[in-house]
Amino acid sequence: MSDGDGELEARLVEQEEFEPSDEFVEQANVSDPAIYDEFEEDWPHSWERAAEMLDWFEDYDEVLDDSEEPFYEWFVNGTLNASYNCVDRHVENGDKNRVAIKWEGEHGETRTYTYQDLYREVNEFAAALLDLGVEEDDVVTMYMPMVPELPIAMLACARIGAPHSVVFAGFSADALATRMNSAESRFLVTCDGYYRRGDALDHLEKANDGLGGVDHGVDATVVVDRLGDDGFGHDLKGNQHDWDDLLDTHDGERVEPVARDAEDMLFLMYTSGTTGEPKGVKHTTGGYLAYTSWTSHAVLDIKPEDTYWCSADIGWITGHSYIVYGPLSLGTTTVMYEGTPDFPERDRLWELVEKYAVDVFYTAPTAIRAFMKWGTEFPERRDLSSLRLLGTVGEPINPRAWKWYYKHIGNEECPVVDTWWQTETGGMMVTTLPGIGTMKPGSAGPPLPGIDARVVDPGGEEVEAGRAGYLTVNKPWPGMLRTLYNNDERFISEYWEEYSDPDADEWVYFPEDGAKIDEDGYITILGRVDDVLNVSGHRLGTMEIESAIVGVEGVAEAAVVGGDHEVKGEAVYAYVILEDGYEGTDEMRDKIVAGVEDAIGPIARPEQVVFTPELPKTRSGKIMRRLLEEIANDEELGDTTTLRNPEIVTEIQSKVQND
Ligand code: WTA
Repeated sequence: MSDGDGELEARLVEQEEFEPSDEFVEQANVSDPAIYDEFEEDWPHSWERAAEMLDWFEDYDEVLDDSEEPFYEWFVNGTLNASYNCVDRHVENGDKNRVAIKWEGEHGETRTYTYQDLYREVNEFAAALLDLGVEEDDVVTMYMPMVPELPIAMLACARIGAPHSVVFAGFSADALATRMNSAESRFLVTCDGYYRRGDALDHLEKANDGLGGVDHGVDATVVVDRLGDDGFGHDLKGNQHDWDDLLDTHDGERVEPVARDAEDMLFLMYTSGTTGEPKGVKHTTGGYLAYTSWTSHAVLDIKPEDTYWCSADIGWITGHSYIVYGPLSLGTTTVMYEGTPDFPERDRLWELVEKYAVDVFYTAPTAIRAFMKWGTEFPERRDLSSLRLLGTVGEPINPRAWKWYYKHIGNEECPVVDTWWQTETGGMMVTTLPGIGTMKPGSAGPPLPGIDARVVDPGGEEVEAGRAGYLTVNKPWPGMLRTLYNNDERFISEYWEEYSDPDADEWVYFPEDGAKIDEDGYITILGRVDDVLNVSGHRLGTMEIESAIVGVEGVAEAAVVGGDHEVKGEAVYAYVILEDGYEGTDEMRDKIVAGVEDAIGPIARPEQVVFTPELPKTRSGKIMRRLLEEIANDEELGDTTTLRNPEIVTEIQSKVQND
């Protein structure tokens, strides 16, 4: 059935508010609106509700220590182990035969891990890590695609108290080296390769290149054999070990989960910021695990008997929080898929929803926009009636895409939660609770209970309903980052300086997103206000891309901005000035694209490279990015009178249009 442009009928196009069905509300984990007041009245003790979802070795004696703001501590002096909470306790509670991970490879091969299977492999790999010399607090880097060994390795690290730092497999060798150097990480877990749209990719070569760029000694690398006979025949070097051999050597071994302090680091996750250097976001064991467990329960409505699927990659925070830690802590079945949504056909995701009878599905707006473009015939081929709840994350979702998802995937029966959060927040912050709230497509919703998010003007005063402003979070929460790795100063300057008043002891977190709020307190996110792009839901710093481009021989200067893109949301536009003697040839363009792919990865590949003799600059020499954005978007240009070189604008404009 096709009902015109975007395949939505007029009735839905006009409807602005949606309610969850009675049937959904009756079974929802959280359905009493009193929860908002309860959290407020009893704050911060209300957060005990999240901590109570975990098994603690030793109880905490204080919920929140805010004596050294903004270095907050949660669940003070409590001890616990994340691997114990995600694995052992389910085995001990009689659920050892429940499926923990259902994995599907790109070619349709499947692997199923019960909680008992997971327990066995996590223990064996933990024993192997200890044997390789990994000690508590050593950072273990993982550079792996979507294979089950990734969550197993993460949980094995958590078991022995070694923080992990997962680097997205699509990132380049340079990006791996930068992150290993920053974390002084001496251990790497990686794999030989993986499949993408039918082709085997050589991942170990990239990993080895990255290792070549590590400034300190690397003690050991573990390599998962994913490709078997399709592999590239690399020989493992002296300190490189085969995953299967290690598990065989440690067959049947058990490792006691270490008692970690609630504030001990569980993992580092690098993310892009305003400057070129990626930031090492530090998350802790108690607060993070409590927060992801609670939000998985309250927002994703996950029940142990569900089959739950988040289609993100574990290389990003969404996968950490909502493929691995939250769902496994709740003891549910979490689905992992190796491949892409359009291989072998554009109904691949719906095929999997049907095959596994998925109850809850969580994805990104960029994927939904692609589904819309492909048309309704693909979901219509499949039985999606197992679905109970849908979610999105990563970027703003426009009402049309929201409604398409609601109708064509959810059959107008599943609530849709549009969840705003960040790498730094650890878990969801602004969204409706599906068993309580009215949904307004395009608006994420109110802050979660216990979250004091506001929309303010540059002076920090709350703006009136309907007016645009900046999002702030005015109270701490358990899942928040604790600092940037080895860089407390940057932690303060990035997130706290803008709106805090230290003299008055007022600390306000600034996520660097623009937003507006309506009369019901619903927040609509307007996007980043710093120099960070959101390409297909992936955070990329313009500075990182610019420094990759100026690293190419012959490039004098570069400016990178985001232009609107139908599927990706934003796409990378690069304006480049060449040195004298170099010409803007196709070859030069290819070199620039390759330079970006080498420094960051294919996700940062410029959509367009525009050669220009100058960049539009103000009299004080600042590049007018706003104009470059307008040009990329083919919009009417704003004020150019403050420019030193206004004539360049029309020249650039005609180049972009003719390209
Ligand atoms: C954006 C991903 C609008 C936002 C979990 C944020 C969103 C950045 C939403 C964080 C949403 C995330 N609506 N925008 N529901 N969710 N964002 O660190 O700009 O990869 O600051 O974390 O994505 O991206 P990150």
